[in-house]
Amino acid sequence: MTGWTRPHILNLADWSAAEFDIVLQTAASMAQVLAGRTKKIPALQGQVVTNLFFEPSTRTRSSFELAAKRLSADVMNFAPGSSSLTKGETILDTAKTYLAMGTDIMVIRHQQAGVPQFIAHQLDQLGAGVKVLNAGDGQHEHPSQALLDLYTITRQLDRDNPRLAVLQGKKIAIVGDILHSRVARSNIWSLLAAGADLHLAGPPTLLPLAFAQLRPVDSPGQLTLHWHLEPALVEADFVMTLRLQKERMTAHLLPSLREYHQQFGLTHARLQACHPSVKLLHPGPVNRGVEMSSELMDDANLSLIQDQVTSGVAIRMALLYLIGTAGPEA
Ligand code: NCD
Repeated sequence: MTGWTRPHILNLADWSAAEFDIVLQTAASMAQVLAGRTKKIPALQGQVVTNLFFEPSTRTRSSFELAAKRLSADVMNFAPGSSSLTKGETILDTAKTYLAMGTDIMVIRHQQAGVPQFIAHQLDQLGAGVKVLNAGDGQHEHPSQALLDLYTITRQLDRDNPRLAVLQGKKIAIVGDILHSRVARSNIWSLLAAGADLHLAGPPTLLPLAFAQLRPVDSPGQLTLHWHLEPALVEADFVMTLRLQKERMTAHLLPSLREYHQQFGLTHARLQACHPSVKLLHPGPVNRGVEMSSELMDDANLSLIQDQVTSGVAIRMALLYLIGTAGPEA
């Protein structure tokens, strides 16, 4: 009995502290499974997990696939380029096709915000009993990424017992293209729920003032916006930088990549202002030499980027396990 009740994982905006802690503890157990000899448990044996990725992905799709296989589920992968979508099929009809093949859990990524919610709602109306996991929708949310970031950060602070409380008062900076980032939005919810001292930094075109209003109800965390990098870095315990999402930029929001790097690109010299034990995160994929210098990205003493990828499998196992074994269908 885990105490988990949500059938779908669509966003983090309304999560309780207890829910974050259940995920962190379950991921820690899954990490032990992955460190063991067989690396696999039969928790989802017989269940079908379908990855419906309407938008490109390297790490998120592979990570969900491996996580499902480590839980002994059967996995199907959908790629839009070679599918009937090119013949005019709607996304809901695509989802229903996979439902008819016995899908139990759908992992959905789409360039349009709200698609995973829409499909979850439609399938609920059909009484399908299918669980839906949002793997990134437009600029809205990317819950599994923020949860793997949370797991990576809390494990740095207490390796044996990662939990929300260890982030209380820690200074965390999120730097870069916040406007277009679903990763930043999901991280804002989880880090403020954890009581972190959260600082957002970016050029005004990529960090609108409206972000100051984003707060979970009764959240214990503090949120501060900066349009210069330096104040966000001072004494920071963790710095997360984000990819410039060129594919989502409809207007010319930046003078040049070189100028952006000069103003907001992270380098060893700039990180001198941070806490001496500072660690660096990036959800990937990285534009080397834009968000951060190539040397910094490869500095294993500072960068948690590879850790994030490793943690992603444990977190996604935890999420699939929790929704796959919760509720009346279990
Ligand atoms: C992110 C995404 O797709 O939202 N990447 C990821 O999932 N690891 C961030 C990005 O595309 O920059």
